[in-house]
Amino acid sequence: MSLWGSRFDESPDEVLWAYTVDPADRRLLLDDLAGSLAHVAMLEQVGLLDANEGPALRTGLESVLAEARAGEFRFLDTDEDVHSAVERRLGELIGPLAGKMHTARSRNDQVALDLRLYMRRAGADRIAQIELLALALTDAAEDVGAVVVATYTHLQQGQAVPLAHHLLAYAWMVLRDRSRFEDLLKRLDESPLGAGAGGGTSLPIDPALSAALLGFETTFDNSIDAVASRDLAAEFVFVAGQAMVTLSRLAEDMVLWASTEFGWVTFLDRHTTGSSAMPQKKNPDMAELARGRAAGVIGDVAAILSLQKGLPMAYNRDLQEDKRFVFHADDTLGGTLGALRAMIAGAAFAPPPPSSWVVALDLAESLVRRGVPFREAHHIVGRVVAELTRRGAVLGDATLDLLQTVDERFAAEDLETLSPESSVRSRGSSGGGSQPAVEAQIAKIRDLLG
Ligand code: ARG
Repeated sequence: MSLWGSRFDESPDEVLWAYTVDPADRRLLLDDLAGSLAHVAMLEQVGLLDANEGPALRTGLESVLAEARAGEFRFLDTDEDVHSAVERRLGELIGPLAGKMHTARSRNDQVALDLRLYMRRAGADRIAQIELLALALTDAAEDVGAVVVATYTHLQQGQAVPLAHHLLAYAWMVLRDRSRFEDLLKRLDESPLGAGAGGGTSLPIDPALSAALLGFETTFDNSIDAVASRDLAAEFVFVAGQAMVTLSRLAEDMVLWASTEFGWVTFLDRHTTGSSAMPQKKNPDMAELARGRAAGVIGDVAAILSLQKGLPMAYNRDLQEDKRFVFHADDTLGGTLGALRAMIAGAAFAPPPPSSWVVALDLAESLVRRGVPFREAHHIVGRVVAELTRRGAVLGDATLDLLQTVDERFAAEDLETLSPESSVRSRGSSGGGSQPAVEAQIAKIRDLLG
């Protein structure tokens, strides 16, 4: 049953009902009840409900809340949305007094509030999950000790770095995803309840009171903005989308590193899957699905931005669609954070050493320390590389004799830089790929996460 039938001569067509009713909002039930309880308390406080009506409405709503919490709340096909369902159920429990609940309120401010309550809760949950993943990455970085790998550019081995440095790069990336959620939570801290249909009300309400009861810092300054804006929902979806993209890159490295060609990591059997055809396979499906599901959330970002772009002020039914994108982005991110955290926590990292070419830049820097301009040093080491390649050798095979044939400024001590481990040991730049930098990062992240 709709909340609005009396101005119509006929009831809604089946096709209208089937097209316009979206059960997706049912998951806002607890948020909707929290909002209604605060609204009723406010109505009572300002005298819009008398001393009997307020408590009776509240008791009724608490019964509905108990049903909802117990999973016993029954939605009917005839409920137009979650708000209508709650009002219908309240009426069944307490009779016509239920009709006073919607005093000085519209579903327009109600749904804006419900979504904000949802995002506030979901944002805090995702932050907690991101912190667990950052900790799993930090623990892994600590566990791998001083193991050295190559860092890559163009997927070609570049410089020698501690594997821990690589893992911690992801920890910093997810921590920025966390801080984006934290920033969003500050902007979400404003209640739209009391904006009504979009223009406010002639009744003496106190939006600041219901806002405070719901734990909001503040309330809206403009009722049109309060009911019509969805930029914060779009921001939620973007923040989730960027987090999914971060996770997708992490997932890609897990897939790559688990390949026979890389052989850097093995995952627990229980975190991998097999092949129905090839008995030897052990596949990192969770990481692959994380990478794949990021695509869907990128789609949500495009969708929720498109949803707003041509809307006239203020509320339009188009906005009902916002929830699907928020829920999908949130569910995908929540599931992915859990899956990747488990995978990383159970991973065993044991990479083979990188090729000795990764110290070419260090060799050039040993000439730079002797006053050779970097461009010239680069050129000289390039000739060393070419000569060794001609001989079918690698940089670790270079002798002082060979180096000095190319340039006599090379010295015996330069041979000591020619291993990936000594390359990492010689690196002193702040935040660079060295063991002291790794230890500083681990301490800083542990400190940040308390
Ligand atoms: N189900 C609607 C939504 O999600 C609730 C608001 C309906 N408001 C209206 N004026 N029809 O947006």
